Amino acid sequence: MSGAARRTLRIALAGLGCVGGKVAEWLLDPSHPVHAVSPLRLELAAVCVRDPGKARGLALPDSVRMAGTLEELAAADADVVVELIGGVDRAGALVAAAIGVGRDVVTANKALLAHRGPELAARAEAAGRLLFFETAVGAGTPVIDVIEDSLGVCRVRSVHGVVNGTTNFILSSMAERAGMTFGEALAEASALGYAEADPSLDVDGHDAAQKLCVLAQLCFGQEVRPEDVATTGIRHVTPSEILDGLEHRLALRLLASAELRDGRLRLAVRPAYIPRTHPLGQLNGVRNGLWIDTAEAGGIFLSGPGAGAESSATGVLSDLARVARLRAGGATAWPLRMARAKGRRGLLGAAAESALGNAPAPSPRLRGRIETALAD
Ligand code: HSE
Repeated sequence: MSGAARRTLRIALAGLGCVGGKVAEWLLDPSHPVHAVSPLRLELAAVCVRDPGKARGLALPDSVRMAGTLEELAAADADVVVELIGGVDRAGALVAAAIGVGRDVVTANKALLAHRGPELAARAEAAGRLLFFETAVGAGTPVIDVIEDSLGVCRVRSVHGVVNGTTNFILSSMAERAGMTFGEALAEASALGYAEADPSLDVDGHDAAQKLCVLAQLCFGQEVRPEDVATTGIRHVTPSEILDGLEHRLALRLLASAELRDGRLRLAVRPAYIPRTHPLGQLNGVRNGLWIDTAEAGGIFLSGPGAGAESSATGVLSDLARVARLRAGGATAWPLRMARAKGRRGLLGAAAESALGNAPAPSPRLRGRIETALAD
């Protein structure tokens, strides 16, 4: 592809943290594969950071404009705004402003999508803008695009997933490394860049609940909020509960589930024993996995690293390449499946809080407070 002949996609990036820094580094590196697959030349046009004085080990060329505020970034001369600042309020205002002034948007922000995804997608669709968020679930592991696109023609019956890398790293490290404590495993996950700035979002299950909302909105077309998800984290899991499971060939994992049963959507995040023979029971370390049961295509399993700067930046670049392909092809509208969920809550209600059906415990000793899920 001839670089000189290519039109340009100008990118405004909010946030140069662990993920944003890697996105910027790769956009500035002409040898990164994204530049070969994008039909438009990808140009980092502007950035906005909370602390411009902070050393980041990243040399931005003079051509990159430093926006002083998020409002300035939204209004910068760009085609697409990439939101990597996290949180709901400021990020939501940025995304809404960017759509309002005619930008496409890429975000990795699961909290924002869990709280405002359908509304923002409807806003984007009405404005003829794109809103892509591959990184919000599974980081760079292609999950959203598969559900949106390839499985968009299927009826989903249930989604079960290990969608938080930090807790999976903690639980599998405690199982594999004798004597490792919860605190040591969490410290290691933080040092590796997996944990949220506030790791209670990981260990108390809220990050997984936000990701489950994004998945349920896509798979079931319902406006699902974190408060609809019965959420229990792993803080109170004991080493002996993990080891007891192992003795019975069960992996203790933080399992997120959305299941359509009797016309009701049941949503839960909780520690559960999963048979080691089930694909979700074989995920160790930061690996995430999703088991999607569809009426037409049967059970689909997706798996890959679910956190970390490089995996997450890969998800963001895949979205940028997608924007470039659509815009280069002259797309003026794009049906955003997330927008279909706006205002639709018919499958929710009290039933959303009900416990999910459990597989029978394989031994009386495990018949405690932790359920056994996903019989093999
Ligand atoms: N803290 C998150 C996790 C990062 O551990 O999965 C990726 O969303």
